[in-house]
Amino acid sequence: MDLCTQYLGLKLKNPLVPAASPLTRDLDSLKRLEDSGAAAVTLFSLFEEQIEHETELIASYLDYGSDRYAEASSYFPTPDRFHSGPDQYLDLVRKAKETLDIPVIASLNGVTTGGWIDYAKQMADAGADALELNVNWIETDPNVTGQEVEQRYVDVVTAVASTVALPVTVKIGAQFSSVANIALRLGGAGARGLVLFNRFYQPDFEVEKREVKPHLVWSTSHDMRLPLHWIAILYDKVPLDLALSTGVHSPIDVVKAVMAGARAVTCASILLDRGIEYLGRLVYGLEEWMTNHDYESLDQLRGCMSHQRVANASAFERANYMKELLSFRPEPLAFR
Ligand SMILES: Cc1cc2nc3c(=O)[nH]c(=O)nc-3n(C[C@H](O)[C@H](O)[C@H](O)COP(=O)(O)O)c2cc1C
Repeated sequence: MDLCTQYLGLKLKNPLVPAASPLTRDLDSLKRLEDSGAAAVTLFSLFEEQIEHETELIASYLDYGSDRYAEASSYFPTPDRFHSGPDQYLDLVRKAKETLDIPVIASLNGVTTGGWIDYAKQMADAGADALELNVNWIETDPNVTGQEVEQRYVDVVTAVASTVALPVTVKIGAQFSSVANIALRLGGAGARGLVLFNRFYQPDFEVEKREVKPHLVWSTSHDMRLPLHWIAILYDKVPLDLALSTGVHSPIDVVKAVMAGARAVTCASILLDRGIEYLGRLVYGLEEWMTNHDYESLDQLRGCMSHQRVANASAFERANYMKELLSFRPEPLAFR
């Protein structure tokens, strides 16, 4: 069985790449991920705010010249909340490369085109095989247009991709009016891959304290529908290697991701919940499914459920939307 896949110019032995998470923060877990079948690993992110916390640059960007920055900066986690600083991060990249045989993807997480981007080069010098750039900006100013928000993403990707020779894959959320167009533009800006999608974390309200508090819950397989759908739409429409993120919990989820067109399939929640070694079950389950269905290679499976052969994809989407609503049949009262 040939489970090999090409992602970002790297030959991976299978499509499973553990996502950035606390499991990719130390050498011991990284080694266990490799031993459990990971084809590559994406390290946890180094955040722009970590690098630039005190500099004038981010202050003026966030602040637009007003005196609100002092308050805004107090929203960010203090440096001691991060598990390591930039130097320790680069050290982890170096040690991971020395210890592991699989590719190591470093992760930068930021939203401006400031000096923090130099760290992309330092990650490359430390030996990273590729770079995942997570851009996650929620625009709240009603005067800022969607076009301006998209331009911010394009500018950040252009700045990072022109800094390093490494392949860059970009992890974005789904909140764009045209996901297909921003994907194309990010490719034009130098991205080689696209990771769909960041989860839209929605902190809860603590009503007694009138505070916003984090409320992290694991994803479920159901959450995979959105990235699955978009990968099926984008496959072969944009010149990018597509990776699926969010909601991969079972071997069938991995099969679906590849059928949609994913070259890499990432997961975090299931491994945090069930343990690192569960990754081996995902790899084994994928192979077993393919054997039982007479596939010999992942290439044969990839994209078979994509929109590649749909002439009018938007009409197809509209029809599916209507079919979904019309599929509802009320149950007889006795069964409720
Ligand atoms: C505790 C935790 C920490 C995470 N840290 C990062 C991070 O540093 N950088 C990043 O890009 N994504 C991070 N993520 C997001 C994951 O990489 C992944 O995209 C997300 O959890 C969706 O995948 P899942 O459904 O398999 O959990 C984190 C997720 C969790 C649960």
